[in-house]
Amino acid sequence: MRGIRGRIVGTYLAITFLSVMFFEIILIYGLTEFYYSSIESELNRSAQSIIHNYNQYLNNYDLSKDAKILLESTPGNTVAQVQIIDDKGILLADSIDPSMEGEKLDYYDINMALGGKQAVWKGKIPLTGEPVFSVSWPITHSDSEEVIGVVRVITTLSDVNEILKNHILILVTLGFCIVFLIFFTGLALTNTIVKPVKEITSAAKVMARGRFDVRVAKRYDDEIGELGATLNYMAQELSNHQKMKNDFIASISHELRTPLTSIMGWIITINSEDIESKEELKEGLDIIERESKRLADLVDELLDFSKFDAGVITLRKGAVNLEELLRYIKRQMEPRAERKGITMTIDIDEGLPVIEADENRLKQVFINIIDNSFKFTQKGGYIDIIGRKRENCVLVRIEDSGCGIPKEDIPKVTQRFFKGDKTVSGSGLGLAICDEIVKLHNGEINIESTVGKGTTVDVILPV
Ligand SMILES: Nc1ncnc2c1ncn2[C@@H]1O[C@H](COP(=O)(O)OP(=O)(O)O)[C@@H](O)[C@H]1O
Ligand SMILES: [Mg+2]
Repeated sequence: MRGIRGRIVGTYLAITFLSVMFFEIILIYGLTEFYYSSIESELNRSAQSIIHNYNQYLNNYDLSKDAKILLESTPGNTVAQVQIIDDKGILLADSIDPSMEGEKLDYYDINMALGGKQAVWKGKIPLTGEPVFSVSWPITHSDSEEVIGVVRVITTLSDVNEILKNHILILVTLGFCIVFLIFFTGLALTNTIVKPVKEITSAAKVMARGRFDVRVAKRYDDEIGELGATLNYMAQELSNHQKMKNDFIASISHELRTPLTSIMGWIITINSEDIESKEELKEGLDIIERESKRLADLVDELLDFSKFDAGVITLRKGAVNLEELLRYIKRQMEPRAERKGITMTIDIDEGLPVIEADENRLKQVFINIIDNSFKFTQKGGYIDIIGRKRENCVLVRIEDSGCGIPKEDIPKVTQRFFKGDKTVSGSGLGLAICDEIVKLHNGEINIESTVGKGTTVDVILPV
């Protein structure tokens, strides 16, 4: 198990395991202490009561005689084994197992008690191996403080150990349950992260190979879901872009093909010397000139576009008299209007302010927009060029009575490579370039249009 899952589950497992172990050790230690110390105090109480009895009633200091009587006087409620031992360590009386009477006993607690100190001993009975707990108290002469014997109370630890064992078993089982619970919830939880991430990764790999039609399924509404959605969005954008690029290549090839075909055709005709008259020759050369110019313009547009794309365009600003500029453009366009049967008018506010701008670039913008109007306006239509003073800016409006732009296409026309009507010539870059130029001037372009009625393009330039 590697990766995120390994790190998270591994860490939590280690932490839980260590803390469970730590608390269980403390708990088990405390429990054992509790049971053992309550046994010890119980044994001490019994031993003390026997000594008390001895001092109270039998105090003639001959233990060998009194031992049996003393045993009988021990409180009946004690389940422990009681031994009376003399000052040499010889067992005088045993409440449970008299067979050892008369033998010398050698245990730590007895030896300590013979030295005058009360002591406890925990160990196993040599014969049966049974775990026992014993306390020994010295019996002293009331005058001389001399040790005359020992009272030893013994109890088996088997029962308590059994109880403790059960407790420990329960605790350990519980501990393992907790660790397993953490392990499985950790696995399940990290799966909610790892699985979608894996899906997103494999989708991204497919996309990297150029297939933008794959999409990541949304599982959760969280950061990972958002990542998937973003990736989907990216794929959508890339696929749009790819489609636009393909369209662009197709249309640009077409754009280049058409004039080239007509130029080639005329060159072949002229070359074959089939030309009958001087007029025909002139017509052919005119067409070649016009078509060559179209090609040069198209190439210029492409070059311009790639410069904008690289962001290396700089404006050469100077004082621009917009009125003069617009009138000049209108004059330049007049022959085309006549040829197409379109009425062109111009209406400029008096005292239109002179603005700081790149004149050639602005000319390019207006010619582009008016060129569109010509392309999309039928015979008998009109094109108006309007210049207006506004507060802190100038508005140049090109209005036509052309075919208009569908509402959903209006935001797209300033995108590069967008062409509404694929059969009309053009690269789809015109308005995109206009938009860039106007933005460089800190201005904006607004387009309004109604299908079948006409289009209004506003260029707003700051003064
Ligand atoms: N005056 C207009 N009337 C109708 N449609 C227009 C007009 N101006 C622009 N459009 C639409 O916007 C598209 C993009 O224009 P443009 O960027 O100049 O590219 P192009 O002229 O090469 O097609 C055009 O293809 C056309 O569909
Ligand atoms: Mg155009």
